[in-house]
Amino acid sequence: MGKNTFYITTPIYYPSDKLHIGHAYTTVAADAIARYHRLCGKDVFFLTGSDEHGQKIERIAKERGKTPKEYVDEIVKGFQHLWQKLDIAYDDFIRTTEERHCRVVQELFRKIYEKGDIYKGEYKGWYCTPCETFFPESRLVDGNCPDCGRPVELLQEESYFFRMSKYADRLLEYIEANPDFIQPTSRRNEMIQFIKSGLEDLCVSRTSFSWGIPVPIDEGHVIYVWFDALTNYLTGIGYLDDPAMFQKYWPADVHLVGKEIVRFHSVIWPIILMAAGLELPKKVYGHGWLLFDSDKMSKSKGNVVDPLVLIDRFGVDAIRYFLLREISFGSDGNFSWEALVGRINADLANDLGNLVHRSSAMMKKYYKGIVPEPGPERPIDAALREEAANTKAKLVSLMEELDLSTALATIWRFIGAVNKYIDEAAPWALAKDESKGDELARVMYNLAESIRWIALFVYPFIPSTAKEIWNRLGLDDELTAHLLGEVRWGEMPSGTAIRPGSPLFPRIEDEDKEPPAKAPAKSTVEIDIEEFARLDIRLARVIAAERVAGADKLLKLKVDLGSEERQIVAGLAQHYKPEELVGKNVALLANLKPTKIRGELSQGMVLAAVADDGRVRALTVDEELPAGSKIR
Ligand code: MSP
Repeated sequence: MGKNTFYITTPIYYPSDKLHIGHAYTTVAADAIARYHRLCGKDVFFLTGSDEHGQKIERIAKERGKTPKEYVDEIVKGFQHLWQKLDIAYDDFIRTTEERHCRVVQELFRKIYEKGDIYKGEYKGWYCTPCETFFPESRLVDGNCPDCGRPVELLQEESYFFRMSKYADRLLEYIEANPDFIQPTSRRNEMIQFIKSGLEDLCVSRTSFSWGIPVPIDEGHVIYVWFDALTNYLTGIGYLDDPAMFQKYWPADVHLVGKEIVRFHSVIWPIILMAAGLELPKKVYGHGWLLFDSDKMSKSKGNVVDPLVLIDRFGVDAIRYFLLREISFGSDGNFSWEALVGRINADLANDLGNLVHRSSAMMKKYYKGIVPEPGPERPIDAALREEAANTKAKLVSLMEELDLSTALATIWRFIGAVNKYIDEAAPWALAKDESKGDELARVMYNLAESIRWIALFVYPFIPSTAKEIWNRLGLDDELTAHLLGEVRWGEMPSGTAIRPGSPLFPRIEDEDKEPPAKAPAKSTVEIDIEEFARLDIRLARVIAAERVAGADKLLKLKVDLGSEERQIVAGLAQHYKPEELVGKNVALLANLKPTKIRGELSQGMVLAAVADDGRVRALTVDEELPAGSKIR
C-alpha cells in the first residue's frame, strides 16, 4: 500500500536581508505542491523556516549594532509576515536558533563523531562567507568564489572534518539506482559529474567566530552552518522529540531548492544521513532562478523586487499565478512588468474572470440566478464533460512530475474550452426559442459545473480566488472538504442560488503598467555625465491642475516653462489635491517623448521622491527661481 503522507520542505532562508520575489518563488511553489497533495487526500507536512547562524549573520548584526539574536528576531518576523501575505499554509516554521533544533544538531554531530566519521584536523583553505562555503584553491575562479564571484577569505584554523570521501561510491550507486532522486535530469547529471570528480572531506566546525551551535564535544568550536541548516529537515518532524511523527513523515518526499544549493542537498545531506544511518529523501528538486531583465536578482545589483509591494498592488493570487505560470518549472525565467501585466489581463481578467462573470450574468438573466435542472446531454455537452475529465487526468500526472507551469497551462486550456463552449452553444440564441428550454438548461448547468471543477483545479495555485469562486457558485460547504480524485461530473446541485460579485481580477489599465512605487531601480548602474546631460530637466510652474475623469491616480497639469506652456499628466492624484500643486515650481523632465495617457496629451514628467512607506512628494526648489530654469 502506498504511503498516504507527503513531506515537503523549502530551503530555510538566511535572515541576511528581507526576502525578495525569488525567495517567494520557491515557497509559493512548495505551497502549491503541498495544497495539491492535501486536495488529493494526503496527510501533508510542509516545513519552512530560517537559517539563522553563521559568520555572515554575525557580521551583519554587528554592522547594524545589534546582537545576532536581536537582529534575526526582527528579520524573521518579516519572513513570517510575508508568508502570511502570500497565503502560505506551512505546517511548521523552524528557526535554527530554537532549542529543539540545537539539540538535534548536537546529537547528530555526536552520533557521527562516535562512529568515527568526524575527526579533528586543521583546515587551511578558502571560504566564501556570503555562500558559507569552503573551496579548495583549485575550484576558485580568478581567485574568487566559483558560485557567486565574490572575494573569498583564507582560513587556517583547527576544525572537525566529516569523512565525506568514504561515502562517495555509495552515494553514486544510490543516485544511479534512483533516477528520480535528483531532478530535473540536467541537475542530476551535473551532480554525478561532481561526485565523480572526487569528494573531499568536509570541514564541519569553525573557531573564528561564535554565532552557531557549539560542537558538543569541544565547546571552542561551532558547527558549520550548512551541517546545522540541513538538519532542520529532521528537527521539523520531531526527530528527537516525537519519534512517531518522525517515523510517519521521514523520508521527505521532496526537498524543493534553488539550483545553486542542489549540491548541498544531494551530496552533503545524503552523506550526513548515511553516516547517521537514516533513510535518504525521495527527491531533491532544483528549480531554476527567477531573473530580472535576464540577470540574477541580488541586493548588490540593486534589482530585487519586493513581493509585498507587488501583492499590495496586484493582489496575492495575481502574483502566485504569475510566478507559477510564467516560469517553466526547473528552468530559469524572467520577471518583467510587461509579462506580469500581460498575464493578469489575458489569463486572469479575461479568460478566468470573464468566464465567471459572463456565466453568472447569464444565470441571472435566464434563471434568476438559480442553477437549473439540466436537460439531456447533446454531443457538444458531452465533449465538455470529457474535456474536464481529461484535464483532471493531465493535471494529476503533471503535478506528480512537479511540472507546475504546464499544469496551469493545461487548466487554462480547459478554461479556454469552456469559453469556446459558450460561444458555440450560444445560450442567448437558445433563450430566444421557447422550444430550446432543455438545451439552455443543460448549457447553463454545464457552465456552473465546469466552473466548480475549475475552482478545484486552481485551488493549489490561487487558493483565495478558488474559494471565492466556490462561494459565488453558492456552494456552502468548504472547497477543501472535497477531494480532487472524487469529484464527479453532475454533482453541482441544481437549485443552488449563485452569488454574483465584482470582477475577480480587474484589468490593469495603461497608467498602471508603470512599475510600482518601490520599483526595482537598478541603483548600481553607473552613467557618465554625458548621459545625464541628455536629460532636459527644468523648473516648471504649475498654473492649473485638475483630476482626469475616470482615473483616480491622474492629475492633468498646465505648466509654464518660461518660454512655453505645456500639458502634463502626472500620477499624483493620490498624493496631492489639485489646488495644492498650483503655484508650485516643480522639476520637470522636459524632453521625455510626448505621449497620450487616458486620451490626454502629456508633454513631460514631473519628478517626485518616493518614500518606502509609499509617500510621494514632487521635487521643488527651496527658493523662487524663474520658470524654465535648467536643473543640472
Ligand atoms: N540558508 C540557505 C539554505 C539552507 S537549506 C538547508 C540559503 N538561503 S537563501 O536565503 O540564500 O535562500 C536560497 C534559496 O532562495 C534558493 O535556493 C532558492 O530556493 C531561493 N532563491 C533565491 N533567489 C532566487 C531567485 N532569484 N530565483 C529563484 N529562487 C531564488 O541558501
